[in-house]
Amino acid sequence: MTHPKAQTKALVETLHGRKSERLPIWLMRQAGRYLPEYRALRSRSKGFLDFCLSPDLAVEATLQPIRRYDLDAAILFSDILVVPYGLGQRVWFEEGIGPLLDPIVGTDELQRFEIARMTEVLQPVYETLRRLRKELPADRSLIGFAGAPWTLASYMIEGGSSRDFAKAKLWAYGRPESFQKLIDLLVDAVATHLEAQVAAGAEVLQIFDSWAGALDTAAMHRWSLDPIKTIVARLKKAAPEVPVIVFPRGVATGYRDFAAEGIGNAIGIDQGIDPVWARDTLQSRIVVQGNLDPRWLVVGGDGMRTAVHRILDALGKGPFVFNLGHGCLPETPPEHVTELIATVRAYR
Ligand code: CP3
Repeated sequence: MTHPKAQTKALVETLHGRKSERLPIWLMRQAGRYLPEYRALRSRSKGFLDFCLSPDLAVEATLQPIRRYDLDAAILFSDILVVPYGLGQRVWFEEGIGPLLDPIVGTDELQRFEIARMTEVLQPVYETLRRLRKELPADRSLIGFAGAPWTLASYMIEGGSSRDFAKAKLWAYGRPESFQKLIDLLVDAVATHLEAQVAAGAEVLQIFDSWAGALDTAAMHRWSLDPIKTIVARLKKAAPEVPVIVFPRGVATGYRDFAAEGIGNAIGIDQGIDPVWARDTLQSRIVVQGNLDPRWLVVGGDGMRTAVHRILDALGKGPFVFNLGHGCLPETPPEHVTELIATVRAYR
């Protein structure tokens, strides 16, 4: 006798467009510095990449928010920059600054980047997923992820975070044939990394294009939408049953183009998108995920609840996954996450 109910995962069901009694909720950056137990665990490793590449620590960091909260999914604890690191670029994290990389300036450097090497270096990530799949309760989904080619290229060229993406855009706009070579390499690397995550137990994938909004519309199509479309097509061939969430942050009306092309199973929207517009323009074509301003989670209380209800009233009747419009901020009081989940649970 099987118990299909017990195996039902609200997130997976919703992403496949099937009705679920439970409105799924998970939060980008649900693991991390706002949790005291994460800060304690983090102090056991000096380098952030070492931390990400230690299965014992990465498994524990992934499970911390699941132990504390009634969330529908665990997201692998890792970082988008493990891909350039695995390919052979120097990547490190400086306390108070963020990620730093030895910037690449042209396609000559691409010759020493190897996808086979990346798959070797990232074995601890796949081991983390295999262990998580065993430890995670049967009704929670396990999410794997990667950065999209444009966002990864921006870090690889700028050598870290950037305000204006001056160098990356100068290359993309000024030398598009050469930039295409970098993007093509990253399409292959990202698809390979995501396929390996599925093989290791990831049940849902999310592609983060955090800086898609920095590009003009034509460049957004060429360097964000098209590469993501190619990656998703490859994933759908290898693992058609694994739903893919695409999060092209900041693309404004460009979300319509992602939805119209039906890229992936769901589209992640940032807090700049009006939920009523998202319902009318996107939700008839694709599952929507989003989009509470993470700052509301810092504020909490009635203000946060009103903002949550505005989103639920617009999107909660259709295929919808509740999330933030961007990652959880380090200054978030952990008890506000409890309040948020209770508000969403009371809705459906
Ligand atoms: O809980 C989760 O969502 C899983 C873990 C996760 C991290 N990074 C852990 C992390 C995920 C999904 C990411 C994705 C990521 N990493 C993105 C895309 C999402 C986004 O925020 O736009 C980007 C752009 C990065 C690159 C990155 N990593 C930056 C810019 C920084 C520094 C900013 C910061 O918050 O410190 C990181 C470091 C990082 N990645 C931390 C965590 C928990 C903080 C480092 C630490 O704890 O020592």
